[in-house]
Amino acid sequence: MTRLAVFLSVLTGLILILFLYTFKILPVSNEKFDLQKTEIAYKAHAAKVLEVTAPKEVEGAAEVVEVEYAPVVDLNTPQLVKGNKIFGQCIACHGKGGEGKASQKAPHIGGQYDWYIEKQLTDMKSGARINVAMNPILKGLSPEDMKDVAAYVTLLPWSKEKYLATQAAAVKK
Ligand code: HEC
Repeated sequence: MTRLAVFLSVLTGLILILFLYTFKILPVSNEKFDLQKTEIAYKAHAAKVLEVTAPKEVEGAAEVVEVEYAPVVDLNTPQLVKGNKIFGQCIACHGKGGEGKASQKAPHIGGQYDWYIEKQLTDMKSGARINVAMNPILKGLSPEDMKDVAAYVTLLPWSKEKYLATQAAAVKK
């Protein structure tokens, strides 16, 4: 008898949890942001930038200076892992790659200077810069959180070429 009672209460509990999740009564975690995908995207972007900006061999040039500046980016530092986590709260408005969303009036922030991002966040929180949309999120961010998320966002590749291509495609329609 007691076994049946235990079984039934466990079953009821499971059904209740399922119900709460199904109807989103329990909080659903933030949209996931794949750290590894970012790293791959960043490396591809960096390689493209290097390809475009690398010094070309000029005929007749006395000497072509070899420039070694392959970026070394380790996204698994504690600061960047934390920044990535915090960035989960920004995606809804600023997009997964920090590319921005016109529908949210949220500008692109990916690749922006970390010190600039940090200053904007600080100013928005203090009220020196007014941003109503971001107020609820800023309440939960400490100065250290701002530094961490800024360190992460500055690494996000933002491609003007890609943006212009989207614009061109929109014009063609
Ligand atoms: C609810 C939507 C929303 C969310 C969520 C949001 N932002 Fe914003 N953000 C905006 C809008 C809208 C602006 C433009 C504000 C303005 O016009 O001054 C903005 C502006 C900014 C700017 C200033 C950009 C510039 O060029 O001056 C930064 C930096 C920024 N956001 C970072 C973040 C970060 C980091 C997060 C996550 C912790 C975040 N935002 C979350 C809507 C949002």
